[in-house]
Amino acid sequence: MSDSKIVKLVDESSQRSSELPLLSGTLGPACIDIGTLYKDTGHFTYDPGYGSTASTKSAITYIDGDEGVLLYRGYPIEQLAEKSSFLEVAYLLLHGELPNQIQFSSFDHQITHHTMMHESQKNFFQGFHHDAHPMAMLAASVASLSAFYHDDLNVDDPEDRKLAAIRLIAKMPTIAAACYRYSIGWPLRYPRNNLEYVDRFLHMMFEVPSEPLTLSPVAAKALDLLFILHADHEQNASTSTVRLVGSTGANPYASIAAGITALWGPAHGGANEAVLKQLQEIGTADKVETAVNRAKDKNDSFRLMGFGHRVYKNFDPRAKIIREMCHKVLSELGVNDPLLEVAMKLEEAALKDDYFVERKLYPNVDFYSGIIYKALGIPTEMFTVMFAIARTAGWIAHWIEQHETPGARIGRPRQIYTGSDVRNYIPTDKR
Ligand code: CMC
Repeated sequence: MSDSKIVKLVDESSQRSSELPLLSGTLGPACIDIGTLYKDTGHFTYDPGYGSTASTKSAITYIDGDEGVLLYRGYPIEQLAEKSSFLEVAYLLLHGELPNQIQFSSFDHQITHHTMMHESQKNFFQGFHHDAHPMAMLAASVASLSAFYHDDLNVDDPEDRKLAAIRLIAKMPTIAAACYRYSIGWPLRYPRNNLEYVDRFLHMMFEVPSEPLTLSPVAAKALDLLFILHADHEQNASTSTVRLVGSTGANPYASIAAGITALWGPAHGGANEAVLKQLQEIGTADKVETAVNRAKDKNDSFRLMGFGHRVYKNFDPRAKIIREMCHKVLSELGVNDPLLEVAMKLEEAALKDDYFVERKLYPNVDFYSGIIYKALGIPTEMFTVMFAIARTAGWIAHWIEQHETPGARIGRPRQIYTGSDVRNYIPTDKR
């Protein structure tokens, strides 16, 4: 970090001024440190949606939205997608370095041996109506973990933090599969420790007690890739939520549960479910033009789901990788999904349309992921749950980083008040 350069801000009316240091990270544009602005000038800054605001320093993930670059701990996403595995990426996000063989075996062992849910937690599911959305069940179940592990929940103890990270990454697939199985009335399945992370999850999802499950290796490979691509994305809405909740000293399970609820929205992780529903609504390639016209109409709230990104203004590198995988999965699984034709037509139409070009709206990570999930037999309502399993690695890495950073303060934004001026209370009979 360098603070050698200063930006001077002068309030012409009061002549009060503030000298604001410029902070530089390893990569990316410098930031103006406005920490003393209010003290110096009596003014706050206003940035709804945080388009120009860095909320924290972080060494986990870097994005260059103009160049379409995504790095986890310095490693390009393309290399990790090709050569790594989700569990190795989870280790990398948490520890900052790729593990050697011994470190990885130990991490894998710990994750594998924390996959079971507490038996009482299984009863929790009985309280939900059978048609509850799996994201609702997931958020509640993850929050409830703090009721089961409160003895070792000292957020100031590094060992407790590490254990919480292991528990979350390990139990998330078990809870997610339970949400699905409960919703279709199947008995919950215990995790099988002889399987690897993603395979274990697929078995918990789809294995029935009456017969063994045979899975195409391409299914686990595709899911592992999707998990890698979704594992972290710096200060997005859900991660910022985890950090904001974490800044209050709340326990990790409560903090991650808040992240899950933030992820659920269709502008964020809920987009993958929304994309598939939208493709189904469009139905056939000949209706694509109407959909594109609706998306451009300012009097219509309709948006093309899976298009646009706050940060990526060139292309989303994750979407590029997923697009390729999507074609591979469908051909290897022998799936002939007409929705892929609609998706490709939509992509083609949007990419050459001035409205989308001028606004730099490209397909994002969620545009193709739903088609892959569908080909793997994962129901639409579970798509955002899949995202949450993967993003748990990033969320907990950020939560830990936040607790390891000295001098952290509670997150507490200010506001521009636009309500009534001071006025006196009027008794009911005089109103
Ligand atoms: N369809 C049509 N128009 C769009 C779209 C879209 N998908 N996205 C943005 N625009 C327009 C928007 O109307 C605005 O136009 P104008 O300048 O004329 O008012 C302009 O593009 C800028 O949009 P914005 O809403 O100011 O951009 P934002 O950075 O606040 O929002 C976004 C980013 C991702 C929420 C938005 O692009 C969107 O709603 N996309 C669809 C939902 C989606 O796919 N979300 C997943 C994001 S990637 C995964 C993740 O983060 O979880």
